[in-house]
Amino acid sequence: MKDYNTPFIIEFPKIGKSDLGFISIAEKENLPFVPKRIYWTYYTPEDVERGGHSHFDLQQILVAVAGKIEITTELLNGEKKSFILERPNVGLFIPKMCWRTMKYTHNAVQMCIASNEYDEKDYIRDYNVFLETK
Ligand code: TYD
Repeated sequence: MKDYNTPFIIEFPKIGKSDLGFISIAEKENLPFVPKRIYWTYYTPEDVERGGHSHFDLQQILVAVAGKIEITTELLNGEKKSFILERPNVGLFIPKMCWRTMKYTHNAVQMCIASNEYDEKDYIRDYNVFLETK
C-alpha cells in the first residue's frame, strides 16, 4: 500500500526516441489523485526561494518540465528530505501538511498538478504555526 503521507518521486511514462522527441503522460493510472487544477511557474530568479508554506488538504505533484528545481520538504513528524527534479518525465508528490521550499535554475518551468482548486485558507504560511499544527 502506497503511503500518501510522505513525499515520493513519480516516474511518468516517457514515450519516444531521441531522434524524434518524447511525450510523457499523467493520467489516472499513474496519478495518486484526480487533478482539479494545473498551474506553472517560470522565470523565477535564481536567488529567490519559493514555497515556504504547507497545505491543510491540498496534494500536489511538481514537475520540472524544463530546467532544474531543488525542493526541500518537512513533515510534522520532523522528517526532512531534499529532492532534485531535472527530468521532464519525473514528478514529486507532495502530501498535505508538508512544508516545502523550492529554488530554480533560470530556465526552469515548474508544472504543478493539484488535487484542489485554489483556496488561500488552505495555506499555512507561518512556519511556527505549521510546527504547532497537529
Ligand atoms: P504560492 O502558492 O504561494 O506560490 P509558490 O508556492 O510557488 O511560492 O502562490 C503565489 C501567489 O499566487 C499567491 O499570491 C497566491 C497566487 N495563486 C493564485 O492566485 N492561484 C493559484 O492557483 C496559485 C497556485 C497561486
